[in-house]
Amino acid sequence: MSKTIILSNRLPLQINITKEKLQVTPSVGGLATGLKSFHREGDSIWIGWSGLTEEEIPVNLKAEIKVRAREDACITVSFTAEEMDGFYYGFSNRSIWPLFHYFTEYTEWESWQWEMYKKVNQKYADSVIEHYEEGDKIWVHDYQLLLVPNMIREQRPNATIGFFNHIPFPSYEVFRTMPWREEILNGMLGADLIGFHTYDYERHFLSSVRRILRRPVEFNEVTLANRVVKVDSFPMGIDYEKFEQTALKHHEISEDQETELQQRLNFHRKKSPDSQLILSIDRLDYTKGIANRIRAFEYFLEKYPEYIGKVRLVMLAVPSRSDVPQYQLLKKEIDELVGRINGKFATVSWIPIWYFFRSMPFENLIDLYTSCNIALLTPIRDGMNLVAKEYIATRTNQTGVLILSEMAGASHEMNEALIINPNNFEQIADAILQAIKMPKEEQIRRNTLLQKRLKRYNVVRWATDFMKALDKTKENQPSFK
Ligand code: UDP
Ligand code: G6P
Repeated sequence: MSKTIILSNRLPLQINITKEKLQVTPSVGGLATGLKSFHREGDSIWIGWSGLTEEEIPVNLKAEIKVRAREDACITVSFTAEEMDGFYYGFSNRSIWPLFHYFTEYTEWESWQWEMYKKVNQKYADSVIEHYEEGDKIWVHDYQLLLVPNMIREQRPNATIGFFNHIPFPSYEVFRTMPWREEILNGMLGADLIGFHTYDYERHFLSSVRRILRRPVEFNEVTLANRVVKVDSFPMGIDYEKFEQTALKHHEISEDQETELQQRLNFHRKKSPDSQLILSIDRLDYTKGIANRIRAFEYFLEKYPEYIGKVRLVMLAVPSRSDVPQYQLLKKEIDELVGRINGKFATVSWIPIWYFFRSMPFENLIDLYTSCNIALLTPIRDGMNLVAKEYIATRTNQTGVLILSEMAGASHEMNEALIINPNNFEQIADAILQAIKMPKEEQIRRNTLLQKRLKRYNVVRWATDFMKALDKTKENQPSFK
């Protein structure tokens, strides 16, 4: 029976070794959290990186890691520390990530990192070939693996290959600055179907193909010598039911079974029942606009001082890519900002920002989503932003206000949120005020519409739509008929 081979840099499970024992935790990030629901339901294997380099794995644990990954239908690909340095901490996250998010001043172009990127992409492609059987479908994910579709095509010309980009695709004027732009586009065009979260990213990609490769582009199709590549937008959804059901159960938990975090949140609510909690959750990434968000919150407290002591920002920042200097600098900046603002506004019984720098287990995420009446998500650029969708899905009584950056892909489907420009502090401060004052009926009206849409376009629907479109594209390939 044919299967789907999912390929992404990071597996949905993250393996660590402490005291010669494996520790397995779920990976953080939209790709892993979203796609794993599809993976669980279907007949698929998932190939990717365990999070450990070859040097970090003791010989006696190598087989155990493979077996453990297999339990979750996952296959690990191993890399040396040098490969990871050039490929992951290098070209993926110092070149492509900043460029595709319009942080051109952060991009580095190091040819040894590019060489490593090619080498590691080839390793991934080879691993797919190793597990590929005639009739399988291959689904490659994200910016770390842009060359893989064509590397597979070279070895299996008739394979059915889909590619999905989880981050923005920048406009031609930005993309053209990439030294290896032709190779990147040709790599992606190895797929039969290329998917993006939004129509804008799709359009930018097609315009780069037309202007850089001078390939004929008609509507959303690129014509190559013997194939046609289809390009389309598929906005990724969440496992709506999982969030909704867990939130419903969460409301029924007795006090003595609540998590410590929930007890702390309850204590805060009991102590000051008219106060408001504003939530933000992201990986600690410069694209997420965390520093701006803190400054905008400071501006809000200055502009509306009557809310000092009444509104608190609960901020979860998950450690991410900490070997990349920009992430280290950002951590420092945020630590300082939080310290300064807490020092400036704190009273004996209140501090304005609760800051957690760690990842949290799912049950704690639900505690936060269900306990905070406002979510404030202000990315400077974001492919999608699943946190925005998860927040809405957990608001089972339909109250709560989402303030969301117009620069997040999710904003295209979430018009009923308060949409802001993350660089406009005046607008953010006023949106916070509007959220605080928003009548319950209006919250319910907005969230009912949002929930209906998110429920329908959930992650399984997203994956199914993509797979159906992939089948159709393949059936229509001139070389396939
Ligand atoms: N998340 C998580 N653990 C945490 C914080 C967040 O698993 O401690 C998840 C969150 O639930 C969401 C994902 O990480 O599903 C973040 O996805 P998003 O699309 O918002 O941003 P990305 O990290 O992919 O840029
Ligand atoms: C984003 C990217 C994913 C990536 C995730 C976490 O969601 O689109 O490809 O896996 O961030 O980043 P990391 O570098 O830890 O894998």
